Amino acid sequence: MSQNPLLEIKNLQVIIGREENRVHAVRGASLKINEKERLGIIGESGSGKTLTALSILRLLPATGIIKEGEIYFQGKDLLSLSESEMSYIRGKQISIVFQNAAAALNPLFTVGQQIAEVYRFHEGCSAHEAWAKAIEMLDATGIPDPTRRAHAYPNQFSGGMAQRALIAMALVCSPKLLIADEPTTGLDLTIQAQVLDLIKDHVIQSCSSLILISHDIAVIAEVCTNVAVMYAGDVLEVGSLEDVFQSPLSPYSKALLKCFQIEGRGQQPYIAGKVPDLRFQYEGCLFAPRCEFAADICRNRPVLREVKPNHWAACHFT
Ligand SMILES: Nc1ncnc2c1ncn2[C@@H]1O[C@H](COP(=O)(O)OP(=O)(O)OP(=O)(O)O)[C@@H](O)[C@H]1O
Ligand SMILES: [Mg+2]
Repeated sequence: MSQNPLLEIKNLQVIIGREENRVHAVRGASLKINEKERLGIIGESGSGKTLTALSILRLLPATGIIKEGEIYFQGKDLLSLSESEMSYIRGKQISIVFQNAAAALNPLFTVGQQIAEVYRFHEGCSAHEAWAKAIEMLDATGIPDPTRRAHAYPNQFSGGMAQRALIAMALVCSPKLLIADEPTTGLDLTIQAQVLDLIKDHVIQSCSSLILISHDIAVIAEVCTNVAVMYAGDVLEVGSLEDVFQSPLSPYSKALLKCFQIEGRGQQPYIAGKVPDLRFQYEGCLFAPRCEFAADICRNRPVLREVKPNHWAACHFT
């Protein structure tokens, strides 16, 4: 019997940008993540991975709107919650770690204050307890001399340390779901491995779930249990890591994975042809213009369907 998903996104549509730069960036994306799953999201640049992640927390940039769709977390419809109800979900039930820690931390407060504040807000404890918790989290995320470092400002931290501090802040309330959007891009390779281990170990130990967005499929293979493949704002394939990586169904996933095999770890994938211009609407399969198997039937948009048990794809030929 299939369990109730922890998070379910149905037919998400996001519009973003002003005037002539206004794009239909997410076009009917659907996804599920169960408890204890670690879902990797891959797809070329501009495929809507970040905007999908931001939509879950309702943190889209000012010009972005969710035009349609539903997002359920533990059965609760997140898009119908008030802003104050949502602020109790963020940081407590669902946390996010962005790529650029330096920009995500507030330069005016010490690192310890920022972590303690998240804890105090959600757990309602004393300032003293929250400070102790902040030090505990800095210690748990491998910051040396955490008692002293808690008093430092973000600009006194290296990139790797700032990223750990951000992870400490994201994990301080033990969220059920952690979203990490390219959490190690820009860090040097040894630090990348340490930060990823930190995320993975914490998620496993606390029996929580993870959405990891990465261009690096070696990282996804190392950390995740499941994979979703996005293209031009849609999810074209979802399944277990093994199914998607060993036996991809969608021609897009096949092409994408092939690029990674050729270009190697950490490279941006390259598939012949152009991604569709997201300012316009399209009737059929969004990948058809670049797909070697495209035929007349691809003028109709394929829906994501369960082709094999727990292995979903949106392609007429699967
Ligand atoms: N603030 C914004 N204003 C206007 N357009 C935006 C904004 N943010 C994203 N977009 C557009 O929305 C589309 C999806 O962007 P998104 O950042 O979700 O892609 P992504 O898959 O995360 O890409 P990357 O792998 O490069 O991070 C892109 O066409 C992008 O240019
Ligand atoms: Mg992104």
